[in-house]
Amino acid sequence: MEVLIRDNSDIGCVLGAKIIARVVREKPDAVLGLATGRTPLRLYQELIRQHREEGLDFSRVTTFNLDEYVGLPATHDQSYRYFMRESLFRHINIDQKRTHVPDGTAADLHAECRAYEQKIIDIGGIDIQLLGLGRNGHIGFNEPTGSLRSRTWVKILSEQTLRDNSDVFGSLEKMPRHALTMGIGTILDARRVLLVAFGPAKVRAVEQMVEGPLAGICPGSALQLHPRATVILDENSAAGLHYADHYRWIDRHKLAWQKYD
Ligand code: GLP
Repeated sequence: MEVLIRDNSDIGCVLGAKIIARVVREKPDAVLGLATGRTPLRLYQELIRQHREEGLDFSRVTTFNLDEYVGLPATHDQSYRYFMRESLFRHINIDQKRTHVPDGTAADLHAECRAYEQKIIDIGGIDIQLLGLGRNGHIGFNEPTGSLRSRTWVKILSEQTLRDNSDVFGSLEKMPRHALTMGIGTILDARRVLLVAFGPAKVRAVEQMVEGPLAGICPGSALQLHPRATVILDENSAAGLHYADHYRWIDRHKLAWQKYD
């Protein structure tokens, strides 16, 4: 796992955008796995800036989002389909038909999960999967103790996740209790994964993910199995790491072709 610690989330998000933009420049028909949540917003703003000011071209790019709440239609302002349209898709030249978000309103949710997996396989897999990290260590909506080999499935949201995400819904009662999410196995199949986690609220989850044992209790720790996982942190989220100096050392001694900034 490559751990990159930056001074603040702004610098971290610009770096994350640079990594994704490089994938798109090298492979114009890249398949991007995307994430929602507050953390990647600044990263998306930077991708939009690069599109507007530097001609970053998304016309042949395909995207697959990690997850969606069960029961929320695309028109609901808290659905992840809506979030992606407002935060990224409508600001760049992406073909909307190439953007995929699981359909939380599907009559047969299991069939929707299977079809989502198949679509990812049919296109040849995901080139780079962006991830955030839940305070309880979840990735996508894979809550603690779920299978580390899961495929896209229906998950029951934990109380902690409901509390963490309820502010944007107005109250906890208005929140869906279930979500469709790529499984951890689906995420690990991406050719590359890029996780961003900032701020003091993520300190314990980051410590467990990077330095804890590989364990279902911290779904993010599954990234330890991935041959090409990059984690971008700020000083706050990295504060609990015992080997922070080691990660900084590695970062400083990279060969020219291994450097991002
Ligand atoms: C949600 C999403 C996750 C996201 C997490 C963290 O539960 N399903 O994909 O990583 O929240 O969100 P935030 O970045 O807002 O802290």
